[in-house]
Amino acid sequence: MTTPSKTATLNYDGKSFDLPVYTPTAGPDVIDIRKLYAQAGVFTYDPGYTSTASCDSTITYIDGDEGILLHRGYPIDQLASKSHFLEVCYLLLYGELPSSFQLEDFETRVTRHTMIHEQMHNFFRGFRRDAHPMATMVGVVGAMSAFYHDSLDVTDPWQREVASIRLIAKMPTIAAMAYKYSIGQPFVYPRNDLDYAANFLHMCFSVPAETYHVNPIVARAMDRILTLHADHEQNASTSTVRLASSSGANPFACIAAGIACLWGPAHGGANQACLEMLREIGTVDRIPEFIARAKDKNDPFRLMGFGHRVYKNTDPRAKVLKQSADEVLELLGVQDNPLLQVAKELEHVALNDPYFIEKKLFPNVDFYSGIILEAIGFPTSMFTPVFALSRTVGWVSQWKEMIADPQMKIGRPRQLYMGETHRDYIDIENR
Ligand code: CMC
Repeated sequence: MTTPSKTATLNYDGKSFDLPVYTPTAGPDVIDIRKLYAQAGVFTYDPGYTSTASCDSTITYIDGDEGILLHRGYPIDQLASKSHFLEVCYLLLYGELPSSFQLEDFETRVTRHTMIHEQMHNFFRGFRRDAHPMATMVGVVGAMSAFYHDSLDVTDPWQREVASIRLIAKMPTIAAMAYKYSIGQPFVYPRNDLDYAANFLHMCFSVPAETYHVNPIVARAMDRILTLHADHEQNASTSTVRLASSSGANPFACIAAGIACLWGPAHGGANQACLEMLREIGTVDRIPEFIARAKDKNDPFRLMGFGHRVYKNTDPRAKVLKQSADEVLELLGVQDNPLLQVAKELEHVALNDPYFIEKKLFPNVDFYSGIILEAIGFPTSMFTPVFALSRTVGWVSQWKEMIADPQMKIGRPRQLYMGETHRDYIDIENR
């Protein structure tokens, strides 16, 4: 951490307290309140962490007002158009773009870890066929700690490295197996001659009886979805991974915790919820009814795939994906699909409605990723697993950064207690 650049003064209860202020390389200044309780005897209150920096990091920077997303300083639109997923993985993990040799070596290391322990197949078979693939993924990724004993020691940098590569390499295999199991088809082994995105499509759509030819434009769109979801600063699932690992828990257990958090409809589950909403709307003429519901304070309904906690201008990832969506839909000749007609019209209506304009609500990354994944042929239940597999590198990079930080402490928030104060136990016959 840098040295303080200035001091903030807090006047409280007739006393004044000086608090160090850090100036980041980008973004707002940060007031350090770590010693506040010890000095002033007060806590700060910030449920939802809207004003709290939970860590210092050098991985990802977001400016929500300007719609900027940088990974290690590189803008996401440049990475999406010029780079590819595994190169972005290297950048996130190691801080710099790789040389050709470094990239080749990294790709080989990932490729050589794509198979999972054969005994894990039995673990999959223990789930009900109708289990949601996210449920299966939470269980199987957590269970990796029972299979890979030689990469559980978080104090050993080499074991951390091996665990990182295993997680990035095996996640597509696990996600594809969760899918295959849910539709009753045999598991398809990875093919190391294909690139990361094409191999994932192969494992999802190929069957022993028939080869699946991966269309390069579809593989490119898949790679873009992975690249655009790779990391996103201290979001809910990443913070979950950090909090879980702050206790020293093993990486597989911590990433399973991140997957569980991602599943919620306000986070990664939004892409599934968005497509389900489009299906529920069904036809363009029903859009006004759903827009009215989204605006009604007494109706909990929200337009899924719209709005973002941090982006209040535009989601830079959504901009890139919108273009990819147009390309893929044209390639697959599905522009006339009624669901996609509803999506296009809903986007148009919401972008021009004063409620959405005033509240700065616009389509987010999940709106367009859902449309592309639907066109590629994924069922909605696979949308969030695809997000989980993309975000694994972000979770792993943030986890590695945290564990290597000598200042790491177990995460332990405090609270504003509003319950009963001391009261004596009343025997049951007297209540
Ligand atoms: N539809 C209708 N109204 C909305 C929506 C929406 N999608 N999102 C926010 N609002 C309203 C909300 O009712 C509130 O109104 P008011 O000020 O009158 O009370 C105002 O906008 C601010 O909402 P908020 O809940 O305080 O905002 P937040 O920053 O806490 O929530 C969000 C961000 C993403 C959870 C929210 O916009 C949402 O629920 N969106 C739908 C789910 C979604 O698409 N999530 C994916 C996010 S992107 C991928 C990811 O990060 O995982």
